Amino acid sequence: MTQEELFKKLVAHSKEYGFIFPSSEIYDGLSAVYDYGQMGVELKNNIKKYWWDSMVKLNDNIVGIDAAIFMHPRTWEASGHVGAFNDPLIDNKDSKKRYRADVLIEDWLAKQDEKIAKEVEKARKRFGESFDEAMFLETNPRVAETRKKRDQVHERMAKALNDNDFDEIKRIIEDCEIVCPISGTRNWTEVRQFNLMFETKIGSVADGANTIYLRPETAQGIFVNFLNVQKTGRMKIPFGIAQIGKAFRNEIVARQFIFRMREFEQMEMQFFIRPGDEMRWYEHWKAFRMSWHKALGFGENHYRFHDHDKLAHYANAATDIEYEFPFGFKEVEGVHSRTDFDLGNHQKFSGRKIQYFDPETGESYVPYVVETSIGVDRMVLQVLSASYTEEKLEKEDRVVMKFPPALAPVKAAVLPLVKKDGLPELAHEVFDALKFDHVCQYDEKDSIGKRYRRQDAIGTPFCITVDHQSREDRTVTVRHRDTMAQERVTIDELPRLIDEEVSFRKLFRQIVNR
Ligand code: GAP
Repeated sequence: MTQEELFKKLVAHSKEYGFIFPSSEIYDGLSAVYDYGQMGVELKNNIKKYWWDSMVKLNDNIVGIDAAIFMHPRTWEASGHVGAFNDPLIDNKDSKKRYRADVLIEDWLAKQDEKIAKEVEKARKRFGESFDEAMFLETNPRVAETRKKRDQVHERMAKALNDNDFDEIKRIIEDCEIVCPISGTRNWTEVRQFNLMFETKIGSVADGANTIYLRPETAQGIFVNFLNVQKTGRMKIPFGIAQIGKAFRNEIVARQFIFRMREFEQMEMQFFIRPGDEMRWYEHWKAFRMSWHKALGFGENHYRFHDHDKLAHYANAATDIEYEFPFGFKEVEGVHSRTDFDLGNHQKFSGRKIQYFDPETGESYVPYVVETSIGVDRMVLQVLSASYTEEKLEKEDRVVMKFPPALAPVKAAVLPLVKKDGLPELAHEVFDALKFDHVCQYDEKDSIGKRYRRQDAIGTPFCITVDHQSREDRTVTVRHRDTMAQERVTIDELPRLIDEEVSFRKLFRQIVNR
């Protein structure tokens, strides 16, 4: 199965089992907007809890807030979003399709990387154990030529984006002979800037309504509350403020399911520090956030850092944490050193003094900020992609979502073997013993095999079967999702066993011990 086929199956599975639906589907959906179903919302809430607790519980100097989506419009002038939150877009005149110009070039670069990787694989097979990859990359003329061209284009793109040189971006597209994937032609318009913020009105039109924006990032809600939190919480630098909430961007290219949406959720943490300390904290948060991802056990080699070619208008250092999705390595999270850009500008635009008196140095200053910013939906997609598994069993196939137990939407399913002989009553007793602490399902329909398959498809780590023996000795069988191994345990032991396995404790221990 190709990665593309796998991804299509994942999208279909997400809908079939109540994880993710297209928004307003009965009206044919709305581009790049999705709804979370009964399983999706549980998964998403668990991801949010994993993030929230890892910030505010594991770090005694981080607190959380929940700011409004609507903010004073001057906020977005101060933050630079009105002037600089733009993407370069280009249209193909034949297909009338619109693209992000930088994404067209990035896709071309990715194709060159694939070409090189294929040549390396071919050579590895040909030369066997004596193969020296580094030497091959340097000396094979075809590969060396492709690498040289790739690196040149990469460098030109980075410079053009930093200089906002749109003529150069168009020239790169022409020089690389990039064609429209729909029309196959190179009949391109000029490259133009497009602001990604959604506008709306506050107040009635008769009163003279004001234009406001749907926030494109949650971070600004944290910056404008810096003094409120610092003073009321008596916080001392270094300290952080965490927030989870909706953000909105009018993305030009919306694709790859929930990877790039127009309405999405972010989990952001702004860490306030002394000026000059930013590189130390930048490295600290890079390492901490990478450990958070890796603790989930999806494989160390599926992650990498990717330093930004074009720094956002507020940053002096920035990197992405990328995960290897079925469609390649893509950004899941950003770690940005934002200097004093935001607090400094809010001070200027609001006319309020936004400074911190440092009792250790006896100085007042505008704090610097290192932020970590991750998309909840991208994280959901990471977890779905990493967990989706097809397995051949002796008599049938199964699709099993191998979620880390702490993230699984349903923790345990309670299944009476038959619908009689007092087994449903005892199964309800087991269900009641677990339901205060965990999302569980009770299921008595169909054969036990079919019920197992249904739980595998939604990733339930434990199936608890109540049979005739249960009535005699108050024991049940616990079937483990991944190994399908079964063990017999007493009903009294169950809550402790499930608690231990599905708790976030194991993940947190890994993060702090790394
Ligand atoms: N406050 C900094 C900030 O917003 P960003 O790199 O633009 O930085 C941070 O966004 C994260 O938000 C990204 O790494 C991604 O996970 C998520 N994100 C951004 N745009 C998104 C979109 N259109 N759909 C889904 N997630 C998105």
